Amino acid sequence: MFHDDKYWTSQRKRIFLPRDSINLNAGTLSPTPVPVMESLGNMRRQQAAVPSDFLWRQMPSLLNRARKSLADYVNCSTSNLLLLPNVTHAINLAVDSLKLEPGSEILTTEHEYGAMLLCLRRVAVERGWRIRTAPIPYKTEDPADLVAALEKAIVPETKVLFFSHVLSTTGTVLPAADLCSMARRHGLTSIVDGAHAPGMIPVDLAKIDADFYAANCHKWIMAPIGAGFLQMRPERKTTLRPPVVSWGWGYKAEEINADSGCGGSNWHLDLEFAGCTERCPQMVLPDVFEFRKSLGTEDAIFQRSRDLSTFAREHLGSLGFAPATPANTLLSGAMTAFEFPRVDPIPYRDRLWREHQIECPITFAADRCFLRVSTAWFVTRNEIEKLGVAIKTLNAI
Ligand SMILES: Cc1ncc(COP(=O)(O)O)c(C=O)c1O
Repeated sequence: MFHDDKYWTSQRKRIFLPRDSINLNAGTLSPTPVPVMESLGNMRRQQAAVPSDFLWRQMPSLLNRARKSLADYVNCSTSNLLLLPNVTHAINLAVDSLKLEPGSEILTTEHEYGAMLLCLRRVAVERGWRIRTAPIPYKTEDPADLVAALEKAIVPETKVLFFSHVLSTTGTVLPAADLCSMARRHGLTSIVDGAHAPGMIPVDLAKIDADFYAANCHKWIMAPIGAGFLQMRPERKTTLRPPVVSWGWGYKAEEINADSGCGGSNWHLDLEFAGCTERCPQMVLPDVFEFRKSLGTEDAIFQRSRDLSTFAREHLGSLGFAPATPANTLLSGAMTAFEFPRVDPIPYRDRLWREHQIECPITFAADRCFLRVSTAWFVTRNEIEKLGVAIKTLNAI
């Protein structure tokens, strides 16, 4: 059944995806499942009706339940896990916690997400550090090449290795566990931007064992917008500084605080609670995982996406677009990039949408331009064919 297109097509009515629009961009955000939206609506109605009761008495257990469901999904402990609005927030927390000597270096790749590079640059400028972006082998099929390239780039000043688990430019999946263990061997702190990984590929945080691992739930997991997380090694916990001070500051971090308004310990309160804010997108995470279970096993969901990315690779390849993402299943998932002529990305992307109702981004890195095709389970082969027709039409003009 899980290899049958009809099964997956029949499930499309369970998500908010307009019939006449094509979403090849789960890499930015996914459409929300209908049952999750219903839970979100119910939760918000509760919040609207009895706001103080909701904040004081209902939220702590709802947040504990959400943290637990996420911790089980990515295999970590809730005591090292923060529920946050998004990966940007999470990376900012991790990066701000670094304490390095002036002259230290943060080593990263030439494929990082621009906003995260800006976050690194701000601390580097303020604290007298240097950011160095290392080239990584393009289209290699061997994970060891990627580890070797970054290992070779380490110099005595390098103190931190920052990389994306899945490159937002080419969709390449970096060997996160190998990179983190290599970083540890060299005494480096590892910070992983996992924005695209959970929900797109299996993510086992115990195996990856990063100093900090940050990610989103509103991309491939399909949570509503406003759900991300930061997980870390226990010894990193007390290095974090909340960007906003509220009720969590100055308490014993590990003490469980039943009245905290956000469940968990005072540490969670300190870093998650920035006064009264809307946290329902995080609290419906258990419903999101229920929805995924109702679709099929995680393996079935990943396999469906992989089947579609293989089809995209073959079909767009036959139209003359060379895949930029490795074919090795250890280095690829459900985001496949294709080498693309140099176009102005935003107007081109907007024309794809306005003229063809197709959402599909153009990305840039290391002097190359890519068409990045996200094949989430709800995509159809016919939609990938329509993308081929649309780009041929647009490129002919
Ligand atoms: C690699 C990477 N990191 C970080 C982000 C930022 O995600 P958000 O805006 O949800 O925080 C993105 C968004 O696409 C991304 O691709």
